Amino acid sequence: MLKGKSILLGISGGIAVYKAAELVRLFVKEGASVHVVMTANAQRFVTPLTFQALSNNVVGRDLFSMQSESRISHIQMARLADLVVLAPATANLLAKMAAGIADDYLTTILLATTAPVMVCPAMNVKMWEHPVTQRNLRTLAELGHRIVPPGVGALACQEEGAGRLADTADILESAIRVLTPPTLAGRSILVSAGPTREHFDPVRFLSNPSSGKMGYALAKIAARRSARVCLVSGPSALPAPAGVERICVTTALQMGEAILEISSKQDAIVMTAAVSDYRPAQRAARKIKKSPEALSVLLEPNPDILGSLGAAKPPGQVLVGFAAETENLAQNARDKLMRKNLDLIVANDLTGEGAGFGSDTNEVTIIERGGEESALFLMTKEEVASHIWDRVERLFAGGKN
Ligand code: PMT
Repeated sequence: MLKGKSILLGISGGIAVYKAAELVRLFVKEGASVHVVMTANAQRFVTPLTFQALSNNVVGRDLFSMQSESRISHIQMARLADLVVLAPATANLLAKMAAGIADDYLTTILLATTAPVMVCPAMNVKMWEHPVTQRNLRTLAELGHRIVPPGVGALACQEEGAGRLADTADILESAIRVLTPPTLAGRSILVSAGPTREHFDPVRFLSNPSSGKMGYALAKIAARRSARVCLVSGPSALPAPAGVERICVTTALQMGEAILEISSKQDAIVMTAAVSDYRPAQRAARKIKKSPEALSVLLEPNPDILGSLGAAKPPGQVLVGFAAETENLAQNARDKLMRKNLDLIVANDLTGEGAGFGSDTNEVTIIERGGEESALFLMTKEEVASHIWDRVERLFAGGKN
């Protein structure tokens, strides 16, 4: 996701410096070229050698060092960066930045760069809550810096509260988002994901193996492209993607209600959820006791949410369905596309290895209403999601919205 991007990681002196090593590793793994700059205090916690080895680049640490300035000057560093990430950012660094002080390698770069700056604070909870720190943060936010707030929990100083450096995975995701072109900015998007559960007693239900991975990937990639995303999710073990509003539901009826309430305001809706077509006609109030007799459960049909969306589609809205099939993939998918009044359908062959339920990968064919069809190879669900949003963007651009 960060291939070809240059990230300047500024590290200031706090106990969370050791977590910055993991951050370098994550950035490098995503293809970024990383240049690390450390304050003098940061070097007391972890040696520059660690960051040099992980980034494969000389660590900037002394403004007056002939050696590092001759290899790449601090002004070149400032120019080179596509993104500056400050992690951990101490209260002292925030104060210097808010005041425009440039008295070392890092703060000099911060005044000289025109790249976006992401600030990831980490400090003692009282320092974090101090009105001066909060005022400095507001100043930095007003200047356009992105703040990745600290987590809450046990702190190294034996206190509890806000002040832990945000999770490195969240910092990585924020960095990817800053560097992703905002091609869905201003768009409201609704994605459904996961299975539904249809209970026939308090402990037993009818469901399917959907993990939510495909729908969560769609929500995540849309948020990266700066859309306002609402994710209506059936039961799933996955955490909500950063920056996505999640509405959790259990049954098909609840999912339908949650979606139809907000559907008319959406620029695009993607129904990835594996909605149960049937639900038990009755739900026992208590657990049904085991007996040697056969047990029959009468099922009644659930409403077709996508069908209702298609019937009431406002002009310009892009409606995308999925078709999970085990036979006649393209034909069944095309039938659903026409019957449910969709703009796009994603045909998902459940028989392929690594495709469909539960896997991190998927193999789909995207079929447009106009008849255009593209079969994608096996790829990660995030990559599939990117292809789907590319198509939706094309429909927006073609005057669909
Ligand atoms: O969650 P994962 O583990 O990542 O798995 C992903 C997936 C296999 C669930 C996903 O890729 C997928 O194929 N989702 C569609 C599952 C499905 O219910 O397909 P369907 O062919 O039965 O339904 C067609 C469309 O109608 C779907 O968009 C579905 O959301 C919608 N539908 C179905 C029934 C119903 N009562 N209401 C609906 O809106």
